[in-house]
Amino acid sequence: MCGILGYTGEQQAAPILLSGLEKLEYRGYDSAGLAVRDNEKPVEIIKARGRLRVLAEKTNDGSTLKGTCGIGHTRWATHGEPSVENAHPHCSDDRNVVGVHNGIIENYQELKDKLLRKGYQFYSSTDTEVAIKLIDYYYKKYIGTPVDALNHAMIRIRGSYALAVMFKEYPEEIYVARKDSPMIIGVNEQESYLASDVPAILKYTRNVYYIGNLEIGRLQKDKVTFYNLDGDEIEKELVEVKWDTEAAEKAGYEHFMMKEIHEQPKAVRDTLHSVIKDDAIDLSGVGLTEEEIKSVSQIYIVACGSAYHVGVAAQYIFEELTRIPVRVELASEFRYRNPILDPNGLVMIISQSGETADSLAALREAKKKGIQTLAIVNVVGSSIAREADKVFYTLAGPEISVATTKAYSTQLIATYCMAVQMAYVREMINIERYQNLISEMLKLPDKIEKILYDKERIQWFAAKQANAHDIFFIGRGLDYAISLEGSLKMKEISYIHSEAYAAGELKHGTISLLEEGTLVIGVLTQNDLYEKTLSNMVECKSRGAYLCGVTSYGNYNMEDTADFVTYIPKTDPLFVTSLAVIPLQLMGYYVSVAKGLDVDKPRNLAKSVTVE
Ligand code: F6R
Repeated sequence: MCGILGYTGEQQAAPILLSGLEKLEYRGYDSAGLAVRDNEKPVEIIKARGRLRVLAEKTNDGSTLKGTCGIGHTRWATHGEPSVENAHPHCSDDRNVVGVHNGIIENYQELKDKLLRKGYQFYSSTDTEVAIKLIDYYYKKYIGTPVDALNHAMIRIRGSYALAVMFKEYPEEIYVARKDSPMIIGVNEQESYLASDVPAILKYTRNVYYIGNLEIGRLQKDKVTFYNLDGDEIEKELVEVKWDTEAAEKAGYEHFMMKEIHEQPKAVRDTLHSVIKDDAIDLSGVGLTEEEIKSVSQIYIVACGSAYHVGVAAQYIFEELTRIPVRVELASEFRYRNPILDPNGLVMIISQSGETADSLAALREAKKKGIQTLAIVNVVGSSIAREADKVFYTLAGPEISVATTKAYSTQLIATYCMAVQMAYVREMINIERYQNLISEMLKLPDKIEKILYDKERIQWFAAKQANAHDIFFIGRGLDYAISLEGSLKMKEISYIHSEAYAAGELKHGTISLLEEGTLVIGVLTQNDLYEKTLSNMVECKSRGAYLCGVTSYGNYNMEDTADFVTYIPKTDPLFVTSLAVIPLQLMGYYVSVAKGLDVDKPRNLAKSVTVE
């Protein structure tokens, strides 16, 4: 959560900071601030509560802040309510040290008490102000360099941080330090940048360094120097980012979410083609050998939110195809429950951002226990991608909308490819079935496109649900996994309470919530479970529910029961999640639009949850 940005170079910093922060607003948007320096002149700090546009108005799009070196921040509140006082940047009283921070300082109270004893005063309730004043304290105590001061502070601080700091005596320089919160450093001729995420600086450069945990960087306009915790200089490789700026813009769509929904055919196609060559799946790029596939005795899928829902679907698919037992777990639970792990198990972490704090901690927990780890990740160079033993990169491109769509779809594809290949290598399916499954997967992008052609019907239906108070999604087997994601999409962007239930479970309590007109959305794509779920829908209808059905073309008798039906093309039942989720994403989107809500930046949320 929170986005940070920094610039030192020859251009005016403030407009660059504002334009970069706009791309990071998905990480937090309850307040924002800038600190800019004009060479030797004192630093100027401006902060505002609310969206970035409030700060842009306050600074006349940055033009009132003069200087070629600066840092900026867009906040998602952790310690302290959204307010000007709590907004970043924070500084020492003499403005000797000014900084922005993303992360959580766990021992901030202990550090604050120490600094209070040393005479420091505090004006905000943030942990960041503590970190900045601690750096100032060590800078003055040891009369050393900024790198020395940061090193001392990093040794004392517990928690996660991406820090960007300016020191009065070092004009035109920014110092950065990182542990467990994302940050990249970009370089261009006579310019250096820092950002929480690549899209924020893509407009300016594609050449980036990935700064590691417990490392420090010194940004000058013509060079960047990196140091380890001992203060020794270290070398880093410059990486060229392949994403282009187009991918991070709205391209004519009203919202990023709609653009990203429409990018799904391409994202799915790209991800499929990254591992399917000559009608066979090749996982050598992931680093998974046939011997390793044969020796896996248990799979643990660990993730959060929508990525966890991918895991719920994947469990059905892996077990069905490979007959390897699978457990799916929420990363926030897995990390603290001291799990008993089979030494021949494979822990699969699924994460779009590759920075989700709980998923990263779960990965580390698995590694500590000596279990092989494999990450399905979208962001190249992210912490999870770097720390996992093996990585399957999804090729969704940058996902800006807070509610995930295309990353979710590509994560599903990654799990399909792995399950099909593992089943084949372990001789659980023959060559005909193997080739048939691959051919079905390759048809998915066109089928997704076909569903998108019909989006106006869904818009018509969704617009009428804007006043709903509760929505229930029901399904069995894979349809339950789809319901989980449909329900999350609906509630997170429309603010309508919704729940997903295994269809058979509804009558064990929750059915008492149904009232005249309550919307129940049934997902019925699995032929063998169709009649069962249909009966559950009838049960809801007889208690007054208003019914919507999502099913495959051909199941037209659904119209006898449901008030509205949306159809998806037929595919292998194992891959149906990829299709059935599309109308549900569209429903959430259109309900949110009908309610006039901020689709891309729903309240209280942030794209990348880097705090636990
Ligand atoms: C919901 C959503 C979240 C994420 C979750 C995990 O639309 O996007 O539930 O799926 O926060 O994030 P990643 O995949 O980045 O680990």
